[in-house]
Formats: sequence, structure tokens, C-alpha cells
Amino acid sequence: MTNKKNQQRIDTLREELDSHNYSYYVLDNPEIPDSEYDRLLRELDELEQQYPELITTNSPTQRVGATPLDSFSEVQHEIPMLSLGNAFSEQDMTDFDRRIREGVEKKNIEYAAEPKLDGLAISLLYENGLLVRAATRGDGRTGEDVTLNIRTIDAIPLKLRGENYPAVIEIRGEVVMPKSGFDKLNRQQLEKGEKPFVNPRNAAAGSLRQLDPQVTATRPLSFYSYGVGLIKGMSLPNKHSVMMGKLKLWGLRINPESRVVKGVKGCLEYYEQLAKKRNSLPDEIDGIVYKVDDIKLQGIMGFVSRAPRWAIARKFPAQEEMTKLLAIDIQVGRTGALTPVARLQPVFVGGVTVSNATLHNQDEIDRLDVRVGDTVIVRRAGDVIPQIVSVVKSKRTGKPRRFYLPDTCPVCGSETARFDDEAVTFCTGGLFCEAQRKEAIKHFASRRAMNIDGLGDKLVEQLVDEGLIHTIADLYQLNVENLVKLERMAEKSAKNLVASLEKSKKTILARFVFSLGIHSIGETTAQTLANHFTTLENIMGADEEKLLAVADVGPIVAENLMTFFNQEHNREVVEQLIAVGINWPKIKKKSANDSPLAGKTFVVTGTLETMGRNDAKAALQELGAKVSGSVSKKTDYVVVGENPGSKATKAADLGITILDEKAFTKLLTQ
Ligand code: IVH
Repeated sequence: MTNKKNQQRIDTLREELDSHNYSYYVLDNPEIPDSEYDRLLRELDELEQQYPELITTNSPTQRVGATPLDSFSEVQHEIPMLSLGNAFSEQDMTDFDRRIREGVEKKNIEYAAEPKLDGLAISLLYENGLLVRAATRGDGRTGEDVTLNIRTIDAIPLKLRGENYPAVIEIRGEVVMPKSGFDKLNRQQLEKGEKPFVNPRNAAAGSLRQLDPQVTATRPLSFYSYGVGLIKGMSLPNKHSVMMGKLKLWGLRINPESRVVKGVKGCLEYYEQLAKKRNSLPDEIDGIVYKVDDIKLQGIMGFVSRAPRWAIARKFPAQEEMTKLLAIDIQVGRTGALTPVARLQPVFVGGVTVSNATLHNQDEIDRLDVRVGDTVIVRRAGDVIPQIVSVVKSKRTGKPRRFYLPDTCPVCGSETARFDDEAVTFCTGGLFCEAQRKEAIKHFASRRAMNIDGLGDKLVEQLVDEGLIHTIADLYQLNVENLVKLERMAEKSAKNLVASLEKSKKTILARFVFSLGIHSIGETTAQTLANHFTTLENIMGADEEKLLAVADVGPIVAENLMTFFNQEHNREVVEQLIAVGINWPKIKKKSANDSPLAGKTFVVTGTLETMGRNDAKAALQELGAKVSGSVSKKTDYVVVGENPGSKATKAADLGITILDEKAFTKLLTQ
């Protein structure tokens, strides 16, 4: 390509890239996928590498400078960057509107209403359309030159669009870190073992304070403009909202929630609307800024000390407040998980008084390094559960000790346990712990466990609440007489329940082990354990070595079993269950020598009285028999229950041994 052609291609690429950037950030309407944008940028970069003499400082490839600074230099703001007066209530707003109406002697005032972004104020100086300097607000008169860092923010144009912008214009606005970018950045910080940022504003400020622009370039920063400072070569339009419209045409991002509202009524309505939306907005906002829209009227109102009289910031209730951590209590959940709960000096935050916050688990306590007596920052955003965001270490007095979750359950005294790859600490007294008993009993009664017909979740709750049962063993002490005393319990249902409890006593070992609800022991593991150890005593007495020798039993299952059966309370409940008559057929090791059933093929059909078909299958498998779904010449036995299907007839035709339930149970227990 000739140099002219290259120059043309480079110009086209730059224009296209600028225009896509504009569609993406300002119009909020991306035209091409990110991959296509990256492809255009790569093409431009390659051409520029080839022809370095064609590089310009405002090329989209030149956002990130390579050399870090030693320090930031000072910038004097020719027009001071002001702050705003605050309003906290409807009354404050009514007063503000009255002051304006009286000041300008007009009845109805229009206000430009904009979200008050929680980031940091920045001044951008454009000369002949090019970004020549960016500065922080500093103390309002002197800020720091952060041009190199600001250039890395894609939402800020290096060059204004169009032609009719003034020769010099200083645009002011807020650099923010969107919530999604903040969450991602904090995940990365944690992965790298670095401290997470406390909130998006701190993260944005920290990112702009980097001396190395390459670091800033990796941070998800964005920008919205909200006003102008210095302007030369053009007079201001008559309205703030019109000025904002112009900035938008020149390629600057304006908050899409901005509106012009009428009078105090309009201000209050806008507040209600935005407060509702607050949590679903992409950026953190801490209130609303109302500005008199008419610039001539702004001039009449003027300034008081360092804030304009023509604008005000109506604050939302703070979502973060400082308070004292009075104690850390432990709650034991239904599943046995121990949750540390922070008891706080009551504090008004996010619109409610907060006196408790969850600390989740030991990892979170360690991450925050929070200790009793500390001053902490509490955050409550919308309906979200209050969180402790950080500890104000400078306010720590004395030498409070680190906090550790207890070794024993505060509810039942059983040992607690935690595994390396799990965040939760839990109580191992599953059968005894009051906090867990409802869940333990529901699990025990469930279909796949002891299958106690008529004992649903509601009834379990009722039985526990009425104090009729404390543990699963107590279920077997229930009788019709005390059951009928319960609300909504008819004699017939009571009788049925007692009957199904009686029926449930006949079970198989695998089911019994599963129904104890031991952490990480599901049906399959229970079955494996039953097959391997053949008796409950063997399972309860197995040490780690013996447990790990079982196929599919890993260290977590081993540890869970041991800690569970090590708890005196759990053992007692198991003994009581055996004492009330829960029983199962003896298991013979499934070796060909030991069991006459080993290697035999069974088919089970029809309904069995004393056990479900799945139990029958499991019991057979424990004895080394195979269970098949269809009858063939290879079938050795067909077990026939009530209402058998065609399988029974086929078995008879083929001359296969047919067993009724009685004969079958005898075979199992011999
Ligand atoms: S106008 C004279 N508009 O709030 C008006 N400020 O307390 C000066 N802020 O440091 C600012 N969002 O960083 C204005 N939509 C908005 C704003 C906003 C956030 C910040 C700004 C300033 C502080 C004033």
C-alpha cells in the first residue's frame, strides 16, 4: 500500500473505532460485538506498528502509556470545583425550593435532576477538541494531574466528536466503577491473595491514584459528565439540560436517568422513583442532585461559601454506617451449620435499624479479621441482609483476641467439624441436637429413609413443637392415645401412623444407615457400607484405616462417620432405636462360599407387604444376588408379591422357582 492508502485506512479505522465507542458508551447501543471491535483495534495497531510515523497521541491505540510516573503534578482549577449542600428530608427539599422561588421571584422552577454518583469528581480539559489534561478535584482549587490514567478510560473521548465544540472547554463529571466491575475486581483481588476494596468509590479512587497507567487500564472504570467549568470560544446555552445535550453530541456520557422536573413536587416524585431503582442501577449512587435548570437564574442565586445556592444533593439513607461489634453469637441451623452472627450496637443504615449481621463462616471472620469490641462498617443495601464490610482498625482498642468458631456445638455440646475444602463448620450431633432435630426427624421418616407413611413434614413440626418427641427414637414411643390429643389428628390417622411406625421397624441395614442423616452419607454410600461391613456394630466401630479400605469411601466420608458415631448422644439414639425393635435381615458377605444366594438371578414382581421392592432388591444385592427386571431362562427365582403381573405367569411357564413373600424373607434371613 502507498503511504497515502495506509493513512486513509488508518483514518477510517480510527473513525470507526471512535464511532463504535460512542455507540457503546454514550448511546448505550453497541453496534458491533466486542470481538469485532477488538479486531479493528488490532488492525489499527498492526498498521501503526508498521508505520510508527503515522501514530498520533489521540489514536484509540494510544490510551495506555507505558511509562509509570514518579508522582502526580499539581493542577490549579481556574474555576473552583465546588461542593454541594445536602438535603435529607422532604422538608429540606421544600425549603430549598422556597429559597429559590423567593430568590428569583418566580413561581415555578424547573430542576435538572440527576443521580448523585458515588465516585470521584474529575475535570477534563479539551483544547480544540483534544483531551489535554485531566485533574482530580483535590481541595476544589488544587487537584492532581491524572491525565495518563484518565486516558485509559474508554468512556472518556480522547477527541470530541463533530465540529462545533468551543475552542476550550473544561468538562466535569464523575469517574465511577460499575457494581459489576467492582465485584469482578474484588474476586480477582481475593484470588491473588490481595485485600478486596471496601466499596466501588474506594476502588475507583485507588485505581486513579496509580502511578502506573497500565494498572489503571486493567480497572473497570467509567465516567459520566454532569457539568462544565471553563469555557472559551462559545457562550453557555440558557439551560443546564441543553448544555448536557451538547456534551452528549460531542461524545460524552450523560447519565441516562437524568430528567428535567417541575417544582418541588417533581423533585419528590423523581426521588421516589430513583430510590426504588437504586439497587438495580449499574452504578452506586448515594442520592440525587437537583440543579436549577435555567442558567440565568443560577446566576441570580449565586454561591454561598463553596457551594452553589442553585443546587442541592438530596441524600438517600446511607447504606454504610460505623458501629461497634458487641459480641459474636453462634446460631445452629436446621442442617447443623454453625453461623456466626454479629451483635451490633444498633445503627440506622439503609433505612432501618440494624443490630445483627451475619458473619457467614470462619473464612469470613478471618478475611475481615474482625474481633469483639471492634468498630466495624455495616452495609445494608435495599432488602439485602446487613453485612459487615470492614473493620476500622485505627479504632481498635486494647488487644482483642481473634475469634474462632467453637469446638463444641453451643446447642447440644457435641463436637463440631469442618473439612478443608468446605467453608461451613457443623455440629456432629445430628440425632440429638435440638437445633437439628426437626430436619433429622423429617429425613428419618422420609420415603427413601425409613419410609414412615403418614409422618409428613408438618406433623413432624407439630410433634416437636408440642414436645411429644425430641429424637427419632421417641417416634417409637408414640401411641394413639397421645397422638389424638394433637390438633387435626383423628383417631384413624393416629392408628395408621402407629401402624406405619411399627411397619418401619422392619428394614434393611443400608436404609437404616442412610436414615441417620450423617453428613455426606447418601443412599449409595450407605449401601456400600452395609455390603462391606455387614453389621451396624462393624460400621460403628470401624476406624479410619478400615473405612478407607472400602471402595468409594474417601477421607470426608470416613471422618464424617467417625465423628458422628463418636458422639455419645448419637450412639445413645441408635441404641434406643435398636432397643425398640428396629431390625434388618442379617447380611452374609457376598462371597460364593458364604451365601447360597451369591450369583443367583432374582426377579421381584407385585407388591410386598413388609418391604418395598427397592428394599428387596437392595437386600438381595447385599447377599450377592443379581436382580433383573425381566424373566428369562437365566432367572433362578421369581419373588411374587400381591397383584403380580405377567412376570409371574412367565416364570411358571418356564418352570422357574417361585417364592412368596414368606419364603423370600426366610431365604433372606437364613
Ligand atoms: S454537580 C456545583 N452533579 O458530588 C455543582 N455533582 O458534593 C457541583 N457528584 O464532588 C457538582 N454526582 O463529585 C454534581 N450529578 C452530579 C453529581 C455530582 C456526583 C459529586 C461531585 C461533587 C460532589 C458534590
